Amino acid sequence: MPSDASAKPEPAPPRHVAIIMDGNGRWAKARHLPRVMGHRAGVAAVRTIVRAAQDLGIEYLTLYGFSSENWKRPVTEVNDLMGLLRFYIRDDLEELHKQGVEVRVIGAKSRLEGDIIDLIEHAQTRTRGNPKLKFVIAFNYGGQDEIVEAARRVAEDVQAGKLKADAVTREVFTSYLATAGIPDPDLVIRTSGERRLSNFLIWQTAYSEFVFTDTLWPDFNKVHLVAAVREFQGRDRRFGGLPAAAGGRT
Ligand code: IPE
Ligand code: IPE
Ligand code: MG
Repeated sequence: MPSDASAKPEPAPPRHVAIIMDGNGRWAKARHLPRVMGHRAGVAAVRTIVRAAQDLGIEYLTLYGFSSENWKRPVTEVNDLMGLLRFYIRDDLEELHKQGVEVRVIGAKSRLEGDIIDLIEHAQTRTRGNPKLKFVIAFNYGGQDEIVEAARRVAEDVQAGKLKADAVTREVFTSYLATAGIPDPDLVIRTSGERRLSNFLIWQTAYSEFVFTDTLWPDFNKVHLVAAVREFQGRDRRFGGLPAAAGGRT
């Protein structure tokens, strides 16, 4: 067959995919299981997606594991979620390290138990500089708190004379966020049919593309991730300008 010279090159995969992993509770409910079983099944989906992201050439994967508002849940469920993070880091860290994954955890350390803080530190130190996927876990994370904390630290530096108020640009402010050094998400996926951000990366998603799927997080697998990436690749991102074909400049 003659090759089609006009065939468009495959669009690049998103560099950074961020996922709001939602629907664990409903997955469990549908099976008449306690909610914790949904969260456990959710950890299995995390393993699948961390691998799939590497296969798809995604550079940064951020997963929302626990929001600053999730403390409102019953203490037993909060304890289950804390326990699962412990269990996940203890069980999977060496495997992630072997895969060349770099782990970074964003979110407030306040209210976390000392041993969890130690585990997070250990995971980050152990995997620092690893060359493959950058895997960001948002845990006890809230976008509004992150912005307030950054503003507070900017104010402290201005007060201490380390920074001039009129030098506070968007780039400088960004460097005070927990995500400093991480490119903004190109694609945000939320599972389980909900269509909101729930305080996830509210600064960083200013120009992200959103894909919402009814699939519950424990059922979300590589096929669903590929479908979301394809949908992303069909989008026309303009960042306020015009499409390239219409004379847009980058
Ligand atoms: C997502 O599943 C996990 C966390 C928020 C920690 P949910 O627990 O929110 O599941 P639903 O929304 O109740 O189904
Ligand atoms: C968002 O899900 C938080 C995480 C996925 C960790 P929630 O289930 O907590 O969000 P709401 O309450 O439906 O907005
Ligand atoms: Mg939910």
